[in-house]
Formats: sequence, C-alpha cells, structure tokens
Amino acid sequence: MSQSLSETELQFVRELVREHSAIVLEPKKEYLVRARLQPLVKEEGLASISDLVRQLRHTSYGKLHRRVIEAMTTNETSFFRDLTPFEALRDGVLPELIKKREESKCLNIWCGASSSGQEPYTMALVIREALPESDVWKIKFFATDISTAMLLRCQEGKYNQMEVNRGLPAKMLLKYFSQEGLSWYVKEELRKMIEFKTMNLVGTWLPFPKLDIVFLRNVLIYFDVETKKKILAKIRDHLSPDGYLFLGGSETTLNLDHAFERVSICGTSCYRLRSV
Ligand SMILES: C[S@@+](CC[C@H](N)C(=O)[O-])C[C@H]1O[C@@H](n2cnc3c(N)ncnc32)[C@H](O)[C@@H]1O
Repeated sequence: MSQSLSETELQFVRELVREHSAIVLEPKKEYLVRARLQPLVKEEGLASISDLVRQLRHTSYGKLHRRVIEAMTTNETSFFRDLTPFEALRDGVLPELIKKREESKCLNIWCGASSSGQEPYTMALVIREALPESDVWKIKFFATDISTAMLLRCQEGKYNQMEVNRGLPAKMLLKYFSQEGLSWYVKEELRKMIEFKTMNLVGTWLPFPKLDIVFLRNVLIYFDVETKKKILAKIRDHLSPDGYLFLGGSETTLNLDHAFERVSICGTSCYRLRSV
C-alpha cells in the first residue's frame, strides 16, 4: 500500500540524503522517495514511512540513516554501458598508455560509482584483452561506491541471466564468467584485478596513487553545481598529467572546471588535464 509523506517529512529525508551523499532529490520526486522507502519500512518492521522518519529524527546518525541514503541511490548500470567509452579505452587510451608505461609497467585506475560492478568488470576485461600479459604489470584498480550493498554485490561478482544479457558479448561471457545454476560468476582472473571499497565522493577519499584512467560515469548528474566542481577539483589533483577521465554521456567538465579539456577518442568524448 502506498503511503503519503508530509511536506516536513519529505524535507527531512531530502536534507538527510543531501547532507550525507550530496544527492539532490527534487521536491517533485516525492513518489520516488515513497517507492524507495517502502521496502525499508517493511524490512525494519515499522508501521509507516512517517514512523521511519520519526525514528530517524529521534536517533543519532547511524545504520538506519545510512540505509535510507543507500535506498535513495540509483544503481542503474550494465556491462559495456554506452559501448563507446569502452571502445575508446580499448582502441585509444590503453594502447597509448601501455606504450608510455612500457618501462614502469604501472597503471593506476579508478572506477568511482561502480554500482553493482558491471562497469569495473567491463573495464577489467577490456584491460585483460588489451594487455594479455597484465599479470606482469602492476595494475592498481580501485572500484568504489557509497553503497555497502552495492560493494557486496561487486565483491560477489554474481549476475543473473538478464544482467549478463544486457551488453555482454557471448564470447566474453563464456571466457570470463562461469555458470552455476541460474547465476554467472566473474572468474578469479578478473576479480583479483580490482579492489572494491566503499567511498563517499563527498567524504574522505582513498589515498589514491596518481591515476591514469578514471571512470566516473552517471553520478555527477545527481549533484548540484558546487558539488560537481569540488569533485572535479579533487580528480584534477589525482589525475596523471597524461591521464584520462571518462564521464557519463550527459555529464561534462565544461563550465565547471577549466583545468580539463575535452578530447574525442574513437568518437567518444573524454577529458584530459590542459597542459599549462
Ligand atoms: C547510476 S549508478 C552509475 C553506475 C555506473 N557508473 C554506470 O555508469 O553504469 C550511480 C552510482 O553512484 C553511487 N553514488 C551516489 N552518490 C554517491 C556518492 N556521494 N559517493 C559515491 N557514490 C555515490 C550510487 O550508489 C550508484 O551506485
């Protein structure tokens, strides 16, 4: 049964989510808040969303608050989402960086907002294909998300038929996944390449090394302009002078951070630091 939320309750949830994740929930998204909180109300054995808000108001910030924030994240993702960024990675970025790092054999990669893992696992298999001797390279590959539930899914590396049918070529499925019953598990050779961690983009960041490749796709859209600017400024500090940043198709650094320039690789846009 769908339950209504008063203006003040909705306002409380919006502020909680914004303060701790920077996600902006428009007032007109009341239906979304209701739909996302309803399962939590049930799981917590509460009577209503109002009851949930009451609990949140009267307890100090903790597990329940974090669960509400996680419930409000949108985790939509798929293997090879949008395809062209992965083609650019395979045909442009990786061949260039592999050549440049031939001596050190070091590559540092970060996939922020990794959701349930399809994006970092796609990156890992593209790297594996482009660099068959990747075992002798020192590849540091971090994948992070604010959501603990998503982190667990990433670590488990388990996908159902519908998820693998979305974007993953059959050849790659058979090569890098093993089937158990109705589920497909990512093979160890990909799984061991990635360190999955929780990280809030508006909290304390991991002590990243200088990053060669950053994928931060389809997450800046949830933030206000000031937050986008702060996150891009942090990426600026972490990106190698010859590194690449990939954003989602509707995201850009333009008018937010002039330190980045847009470049087109294999027909897709990505960003580099302007040389000064
Ligand atoms: C729409 S998914 C994008 C997944 C993937 N990057 C892609 O493009 O397919 C957005 C992800 O951003 C995460 N997210 C939202 N706010 C965040 C924050 N403040 N810090 C870190 N991750 C956040 C969500 O948990 C969610 O998994």
